[in-house]
Amino acid sequence: MDQDSLKLKVARAALDIVQPGLESGTVLGIGTGSTANMFIDLLGEVAHLFDGAVASSEASAERLKSHNIPVYDLNAVDRISVYVDGADECNEALQLIKGGGAALTREKIVAAVAKEFICIADESKWVPVLGAFPLPVEVIPMARSHVAREIVKLGGDPILREGVVTDNGNVILDVYNFSIAQPLAMEARINGIVGVVCNGLFALRPADRLLLGTADGVRDLRR
Ligand code: A5P
Repeated sequence: MDQDSLKLKVARAALDIVQPGLESGTVLGIGTGSTANMFIDLLGEVAHLFDGAVASSEASAERLKSHNIPVYDLNAVDRISVYVDGADECNEALQLIKGGGAALTREKIVAAVAKEFICIADESKWVPVLGAFPLPVEVIPMARSHVAREIVKLGGDPILREGVVTDNGNVILDVYNFSIAQPLAMEARINGIVGVVCNGLFALRPADRLLLGTADGVRDLRR
């Protein structure tokens, strides 16, 4: 089965889980990327059942609106029941690398607020050790070189993602050759570098549930 078919399967599985809880007053958190886009497109079919969503990117906000799903500012919302988003890598502790679409900071904020974080991914994202996918780090532009030097000290090879400015007006360093044996410690360590806005490790707040699309069906993994 091709990757897109697996993505569609996990998007459908996520909707099957979320739909029974949709009611007046429900606000969902919605992520970014091709798998999240499939979920948004399916969610459009049940837009009448709930209030709306907080989006982790301008791109997802536009897509939600195209399905007549109201998009809220996070500051106007008391509670997000479920956040649904994809990932670039995931491991058995449901720790993730995210940010391939440069939306990591808003993704991490929405995940922090949500009561439950359901990650949807195809099996190509499953790894024993995080770090084969270059770790995205969002950086205040004037601190770019400083942060890069500090990351080299941690053992990684940071490369500026050319031509990309985040929705928050910052730049992205992608950290290559960075096998992350201790995701919790590394996430905190990188967060401690002055000039870092956010890094793409989701270990301090991992997913609560991972729907992993495989050739044998959707695996439903929970913490
Ligand atoms: C966006 O910044 C990322 O965190 C995405 O969630 C991640 O890149 C997954 O994207 P796909 O669903 O397109 O693989």
